[in-house]
Order: sequence, then C-alpha cells, then structure tokens
Amino acid sequence: MSKVTINIPDDFMLGAAASAWQTEGWSGKKDGQDSWLDAWYKNDRHVWHNGYGPAVATDFINRYKEDVALMKAAGLTHYRTSINWSRFLTDYENGVVDEEYAGYYDALIAEMQAQGIELMLCLEHYELPAVLLEQYGGWGSKRVVELYLLYAEKVFERYAGKVTRWFTFNEPIVVQTRVYLDALRWPYEQNTLKWMQWNHHKNLATAKVVKLYREKGYPGTVGTILNPEVTYPRSSAPHDVKAAAMYDLFYNRVFLDPAIKGEYPAELVALLAKHQVSWDVSAEELQLIAEYRVDEVGINLYYPHRVKAPSRAWHPETPFHPAYYYEHFELPGRRMNKSRGWEIQPTIIYDMAMRIKNDYGNIPWFVAESGMGIEDEAQFKNAEGQIQDDYRIAFIAEHLYQTLRAREDGANCLGYMLWAFTDNVSPMNAFKNRYGLVEIELENDRQRRLKKSAHWYRQRRDSRQLTL
Ligand code: BG6
Repeated sequence: MSKVTINIPDDFMLGAAASAWQTEGWSGKKDGQDSWLDAWYKNDRHVWHNGYGPAVATDFINRYKEDVALMKAAGLTHYRTSINWSRFLTDYENGVVDEEYAGYYDALIAEMQAQGIELMLCLEHYELPAVLLEQYGGWGSKRVVELYLLYAEKVFERYAGKVTRWFTFNEPIVVQTRVYLDALRWPYEQNTLKWMQWNHHKNLATAKVVKLYREKGYPGTVGTILNPEVTYPRSSAPHDVKAAAMYDLFYNRVFLDPAIKGEYPAELVALLAKHQVSWDVSAEELQLIAEYRVDEVGINLYYPHRVKAPSRAWHPETPFHPAYYYEHFELPGRRMNKSRGWEIQPTIIYDMAMRIKNDYGNIPWFVAESGMGIEDEAQFKNAEGQIQDDYRIAFIAEHLYQTLRAREDGANCLGYMLWAFTDNVSPMNAFKNRYGLVEIELENDRQRRLKKSAHWYRQRRDSRQLTL
C-alpha cells in the first residue's frame, strides 16, 4: 500500500490516560480508606504480578513532577486521570476532605498548568469505597448515589475552574457486568436485576452531577467515559443482524442513550419488563436523566465485538441474561494482540465516529482510551535500554489515522488519548501487560524510561502530521 499523510488539526488533543488507583499507590493512606479494588487485592494475592501491585503502583503520588516532565517530553497536550473517591474523603457520609490527599491534587493541578498540559479528571474509575459496598451493596443503593453526589460537590468546591473538563465515570458498565451479570467475581451471584439497578444508578448519578455543576455555574463541561463495543454480526442474515442489535442494546445503548439522548431505549425497557427485570426507577429520576445530559463523551475503544444468533434455546426457568439473544463469534483469521487476547481492528474508531454523528447528534466526543498491552516488553530493549515498541507505534498510527479520517468526514471528534501514559497496574493482572509510552522499571526503583513510541508521539505533535 502506498503511503498516506493526514493532517492533525491544531485543536486536536493528542493525549494519554491513566487512573488514580492504577498509578498513585497507597502511600500515606489511612486505614479504612480502601476502594473495593484495594480490598480485593489485599485478599487475593494471586492478582499481584511478581509481588508488584497497587500498594505502590507507579508511585505517581510522589513522582508526579517527574512524570509531568515526561508528559511534556512525549508531547502530550492533555492528560486524563481520576480522583480516588475512597481517598479524597475521610468520612464518606459527611463529606470530610482528606487535606493531605487534596493537597496533592492542588500541587498536581498547579504543576500541569505550569507545564501547559491540560488535566481532565474523572470522578470514578472503579474507586468505589469498600465500606460503601459492604454497608449499602454499592451502586445498588440510592444512598450511594447521594454519597457520590456529596463527594462530587466537595471535589468541585475545591477544583472546579482550575480543572474545566470533568467526567462522572470511566466505563460504568464494567464492574456490575463482571460481578452480577456474568458472575465472574465475588460474590459470584448471577443477578440481572442488580446489574440493571447498578446501571441505572450510575446513569442517575451522572445526571445529578451534571445538574450540580450547571446549577453552581462552574466553568467548563461534564461528560462521561463509556466503553461501547463496536458490534459486528457474523453475517448479513437477519438472525445475526438481530443478535448484534441486541448486544448493542444491552451493553452499549444502556449507557449511551441516557447520557446523550436523556432516555433509555424503549426496546430495552420493554425487554427488561418482558423478562421480569423490574428495576427500581421513578418518574422523577427519569426526568432528571432527560433534563441533564452530558456535554461530551469519551469513548474507550480497544477491539471489535462480534456476535451471531444464539445456537441454543434457553430453558424458561433460567434467570434472564442478555446472552439469551446472542452468542460471541470469533472471526477466523482475525488480527490479534496475543498478549491481551483482543482482536485488532482499527476501523472500529471510524465506525463509532460515524455512529455518533448519525445516531447521537454529533455530540463532541474523543477517543478516551485506545492502546496495546504487551507482556515481557523488556525483551525489546536496544543496547541503550530503550524499548523498541514498533508494534505500538504501528497500532497507534493505524488507530489515530482512523480517528483523523473520521474527523475529516465530519465527526465531531476532539482528540485521541492513548492508554496509557506510563505502564501501570491493571485491575485484572497488575503489571503483567504493559501499555505505556513510558516504561516503569519495577526492579530498578521504578525508574521511568521513554519508549520509542513516546518519541514518535512527540513527533506527531510537533509536525501535526501522521504518515502511514
Ligand atoms: C480500560 C480501563 O478498560 O482498559 C483501564 O479503563 C484498563 O482501567 C484498560 O487498565 C486496559 O485493560 P487491562 O485489563 O489490560 O488493564
């Protein structure tokens, strides 16, 4: 294929993402301020990677100045991370701020401003306080929605205006899907009703935070970060196409529609009623969702999802699961990232962009995460010790190209953010898969080293051009 060059518009963000829990470490944390992920890691040592896990993580909380300098070296225009709810408050019921932790954010914000890199903050990237899961059952409870709003209020009182792009959640569907829909994690309970209740309360929480921010008159925007999976049917046969539409309805539209259109899809509501999943929702809550829609969305896009019509009938007594309507399908000969087991298909970004343009009023959006996790990257070091991650450069180039092409074709796409800025702790496998533009040498006091991809990223920013 002959080479093509595409321009990167001046206002297009070239950023990278992370989260508080995956980078900051527990240093200085007081007892009782655990997130549910901390509790899981404390109990389940097998999820640590060679003894490395979230206790120190990348030690960002102590080394943020060094890391901000590296962000500059890698050419980032924007950096997205989260504030850890479980740490920001010392008393979740009364909204008492932990001054030490809050002071660290004051300093981080000031440092990023000084270096000219815009910080975008998410209020929840899986950092639900463990005690709220124990006491109230987590997001199944309306009380937790109120406590989250109190937390948001305290965060905004301190930082609104200094940070002007806020996000309510990162991938709000993920936890309850693993925990209650697929029963893959403790408490191993298949419960579609709880799954939908968590979905609804997170949608409601987003609307309430949007309302709060607007009513206070703070400058800037409130968005949310979703992970809709671009879903392709196995074939154009009607039963496969229907399976894809069903997957899309249950896993994508359940968050996209309320956040952007202000309503649940009527088909979803009817199907949940048909299967007797009667979640607790009031007319007043639906009104809030209708009225307070997000200003922008971040979309995390890693791989395509492929489905086919289900090949077996469900027993009428079996509890309802959306898989009643579809089965997963693996495309023969697909390109794979074998480390992570994910299919690689860069056009998912273009397809998602066109969907947002056509079905969601072309709301402003950006690629909030795209990236490639690789095991044992140290084997790719050159004589100077720099990881030669040409595979990552090729991955970013192809995905960035699809983003820019979509923008040229009218998508309201504001930018591209790589997951991740540095290697960090994955909730699933600690430091096993490395995603960063910057290597964290764990055995060498967590020394940072720019990978080859960081220099390449910087060149894209300087030249404002991409060739592939
Ligand atoms: C995204 C999450 O889904 O994928 C991140 O927002 C996560 O928190 C990233 O780390 C990569 O997935 P994983 O499981 O390989 O860490």
